[in-house]
Amino acid sequence: MTDAKRNIAISLPLTGEEEWQAVREPLMSGWLTQGPKVAQFEKMFGERHKVGTSLAVTSCTTGLHLALAGLDIQPGDEVIVPAFTWVATANVVLYCGATPVFVDIDINTYNLNIAQVAAKVTPKTKAIIAVHLFGLCADIDALRAVLPPHVKIVEDAACAAGADWKGRPAGSLGDIGVFSFHPRKSVTTGEGGMVTTNDPDLGERMNQMRNHGASLSEEQRHNGPRPYFLPDFNLLGYNYRMTDLQGAVGIVQLGKLDKFIDERAQWAAYYQDKLADIPWLRLPKATNECRHGWQAFVTYVDPKKSPIPRNDIMQILQDKGIATRPGTHAVHMLGYYKDRFGLTPKDFPAAEDANDNTMAIPLHNRMVKEDYDYVIQALKDIA
Ligand SMILES: Cc1ncc(COP(=O)(O)O)c(C=O)c1O
Repeated sequence: MTDAKRNIAISLPLTGEEEWQAVREPLMSGWLTQGPKVAQFEKMFGERHKVGTSLAVTSCTTGLHLALAGLDIQPGDEVIVPAFTWVATANVVLYCGATPVFVDIDINTYNLNIAQVAAKVTPKTKAIIAVHLFGLCADIDALRAVLPPHVKIVEDAACAAGADWKGRPAGSLGDIGVFSFHPRKSVTTGEGGMVTTNDPDLGERMNQMRNHGASLSEEQRHNGPRPYFLPDFNLLGYNYRMTDLQGAVGIVQLGKLDKFIDERAQWAAYYQDKLADIPWLRLPKATNECRHGWQAFVTYVDPKKSPIPRNDIMQILQDKGIATRPGTHAVHMLGYYKDRFGLTPKDFPAAEDANDNTMAIPLHNRMVKEDYDYVIQALKDIA
């Protein structure tokens, strides 16, 4: 079925009646900000990802900022980040007044090129943000092996809810993990994020910092026995609390996470099978060792083999009702970073290559077989 024009989004969240019903309870009770629903969501998330502390926040971006603030990253400190990632990964370093130090990526995985990391470590390096891009976990064990012990590892697991590395879940691999629930991720709360750690002291510090630095939560204070009691504020904090409306949605969505990923994995395998004979299209790798989160199915249009440039392919697909997007962007090529740090595209050639040649094709839980077949045929038609 390839003749009728379809309209296939690059990504669509699968939300509906259950999520709609879930927000009733907080709305009816009147407890709307962080409260019992967020607490339940955090507990479920922590159990699923095998971490002692889970803290729901307003987004992955604020969660990453909270992680660096929790680690006391200061002006003068350096934080290593991959050059090919969503801009937020680098922005949060600047929020702390610290310096982002870019490292190129491995063009096969789109994750950090670990062989290049050691050369970027200086006495000022306090942390590294390892991104699990598109749902494929970075090799945190290999990273740990090349880093001095005091350098903290923050997993940017924005795309990696439910993913694992050799049986160990994303978010439990480094010192801190940070997830996104933006609607382009496999499970969503509209906007939202989750910060995870197995370090209880760091967990408590970040818990307070997400709530203005208060030593007690709103709920503890509100339901506590002493009406005159205000908590102390011993830390500089922020308001990064998730609402209970979002927490209620998160509980329902998290309950579907593994089903969503299994379905995505099944269709990713279908793409891999059906698209394997297109010589100019390189497909994302999946291994049996690790569970890919399949936030996105990101292909690489080989400029040496492709009959036409990537952007022309994207335009043709768009005209057929198929949305595509570049995988993500090379941060060192973005205006702000280019100008502020005097960077040129060739400083990180693999990131530049990925910036110019990756193409995400539709993969989400509202698609049906006919949609996948339509995308496959449209790609095959580009001879
Ligand atoms: C790798 C990565 N990091 C961070 C973010 C920021 O997530 P959020 O939109 O939840 O702030 C994203 C979002 O796309 C991302 O892909």
